[in-house]
Amino acid sequence: MTSADLVVAGCRELLTCAGPLPRRGRDLGEVGLVQNGWAASSKGVVVYAGDEEGFRRSVAPAPGAVTVDGSGLVALPGFVDAHTHLPFAGDRAQEFGLRVKGWTYQQLAERGMGILTTVKATRAASRDELVALCLKRLDRMLLHGTTTVEAKSGYGLNLEDELKQLEALRDAATLHPVDIVPTFMGAHEVPPEHRDRREDYIALLVDVMIPEIGRSGLAGFFDVFSEPGVFSAEETRRLVGAAKAAGFGIKVHADEFVSQGGAELAAEVGAVSAEHLIAVTEEGVARLAASDTAAVLLPGVPFFLMMTKRAPARKLIDAGAAVALATDFNPGSSHIFSMPFVLQLGVFTLGMTVEESINACTGNAAYAVRRQGQVGSLEPGKKMDLVLCDVPDHVSLAYEAGRNPVRTVIKNGQVVVDDGRRVAPR
Ligand code: NIG
Ligand code: FE
Repeated sequence: MTSADLVVAGCRELLTCAGPLPRRGRDLGEVGLVQNGWAASSKGVVVYAGDEEGFRRSVAPAPGAVTVDGSGLVALPGFVDAHTHLPFAGDRAQEFGLRVKGWTYQQLAERGMGILTTVKATRAASRDELVALCLKRLDRMLLHGTTTVEAKSGYGLNLEDELKQLEALRDAATLHPVDIVPTFMGAHEVPPEHRDRREDYIALLVDVMIPEIGRSGLAGFFDVFSEPGVFSAEETRRLVGAAKAAGFGIKVHADEFVSQGGAELAAEVGAVSAEHLIAVTEEGVARLAASDTAAVLLPGVPFFLMMTKRAPARKLIDAGAAVALATDFNPGSSHIFSMPFVLQLGVFTLGMTVEESINACTGNAAYAVRRQGQVGSLEPGKKMDLVLCDVPDHVSLAYEAGRNPVRTVIKNGQVVVDDGRRVAPR
């Protein structure tokens, strides 16, 4: 018998999402559904997830073990939000107002607004102010079932302010139960002081920022906005080369609006992920499918930017790409922190099935941040990160559109959201 200090008992449905990651093709639709599902953990690590009979046969709750009643609820792995721009200051509500009146995201950027508005506000903020903002946002995310979040810098755009953003993430991680996966994104945009000398900024990145931040250990991934008008394919290659040499895993903002072969490039350089992919080419789809590079789709962006074009999720899945979904939480193109909403957008706007969307928000999302050995499914040995949703069945996670179904969140084997409210671990 295995001892357990936490038991989640009698869930109407338990989706273990167990199995090898990433899931590709038809396998993306397999969620490991167990009716009357039970799960148990010891010291924050899953020791059991399955049916009642197997639980009674193999698990012995320790004296004083916490039992969470799952009756009438749907349990699934905590969501992994694989792409966010969490540590920024300020907001862009005013610019959103302009967009509502017909301005495009690119028109704002060309007039020195957009990302640069947030760069100004983030540079002006102290590290502690950024920590406080991160904690507030992490609480909101946790209430929506996110238990692991990738978070990018990229609003500092100089060594000092990029470090400040990454230090804020490090500090927030010590103060909050959500796991943070930090990414250095100094190549988010060329800062205003280098606008006429972009070559200098690229040299600064390559010669100073990338090696120094690599040495700091503050971020495991490097990300670049590879897009016509931001960083060209050639510039992307150069930056990625330097980042690899400094020990970073590579992520690429690829084919968000206009393709310059970003997906192809991401696959070629062995990137961990290519993200956005609204404008990915047929060739890019094929290259991703044949690679280990995850295809992270961000359906909140075309929704929030009121675009009609969508990433070709069906094509990517059917071709065999490792498709994941994420919020892209940021102040400009996706002010969305809810993974349940993203799960719903996967179904309503990308033509994914509910099961595919669930796996894309959990197991494949864990793969997209290379944490698939620790999170993304409920299997012995992984972290006990579990959400209980107040819906009659898992299909209703999408069917009850617009609603946050998350009622209880367990992080590392501790209840951190109870009845829809944030609680201190018991
Ligand atoms: O993923 N594409 C670049 N970066 C973000 C937007 C950031 C911003 O607008 O502040 C994105 O869409
Ligand atoms: Fe982004």
